[in-house]
Amino acid sequence: MTADLPHGLDPARMPGHVAVIMDGNGRWAKGKGWERINGHKRGAEAVRTVTTCSARWGVRRLTLYAFSTENWQRPALEVEGLMRLLADYLDHELPTLMDNGVRLTVIGQPERLPERVRERLRRVMDATAGNARMTLALALSYGGREEIAGACRRIAAQVAAGSLDPAAITPETVAAHLDDPAGGEVDCVIRTAGEHRLSNFLPWQAIYAEYVTTPVLWPDMDEAAYAACLREFQRRERRFGGVEAGGTSRFRSPSPA
Ligand code: FPP
Repeated sequence: MTADLPHGLDPARMPGHVAVIMDGNGRWAKGKGWERINGHKRGAEAVRTVTTCSARWGVRRLTLYAFSTENWQRPALEVEGLMRLLADYLDHELPTLMDNGVRLTVIGQPERLPERVRERLRRVMDATAGNARMTLALALSYGGREEIAGACRRIAAQVAAGSLDPAAITPETVAAHLDDPAGGEVDCVIRTAGEHRLSNFLPWQAIYAEYVTTPVLWPDMDEAAYAACLREFQRRERRFGGVEAGGTSRFRSPSPA
């Protein structure tokens, strides 16, 4: 069920799974002569906007790159500020997630996060577990190579235990051992701030995703800017390595609502 779809967006061609590299918070703040953390704060507001638009417009899964494994290298003060912001977001977001039927989940290495963030994550994930309109996956301390290495470790353990024949390992086996196998394929990766890098984001799940880049800095991402990205996605012809438009991947992405 889609509501108030912006002009030019086709409800039948909404991406089931959108994944976003939220870039440009620092530049946004710098442009105003402010500390970087203010860019992240405004970025958290854009998270709310894009989450609610996605749920209303029929996206079934939204994965947001909120903190990468590489982000631990940032100055301690910025990392601390981001963790505080995350805790704050989790303290205040539950009503919006409930109103929009959004289930929260996490991919990455949440065990590396401070306990105060982990405790809030558990609380919001438990409270939203029954919501079925859309899943919001926060990628936290996430790295795509680390995720694939984790899948390899889980598969190797089964081989070592004698319960899995190495000859039976297929791409589907790997997909089934990723952080959240239910996430499926990504249809559309959006990167803001005019950058054109993958930055270790969902390398397994996004091989047939359409990449949309926008010059908009993440804190400026509003309904109109997000709708423009989705219109760009809908202009693409997806062939999945075949010759005909409208082909499909052998892996499944969540079906649009
Ligand atoms: C990249 O911008 C952004 C991040 C590393 C953090 C993303 C965090 C948020 C959007 C806010 C908090 C998240 C949630 C879910 C509440 P950058 O700092 O690298 O920007 P720059 O390239 O302009 O310096």
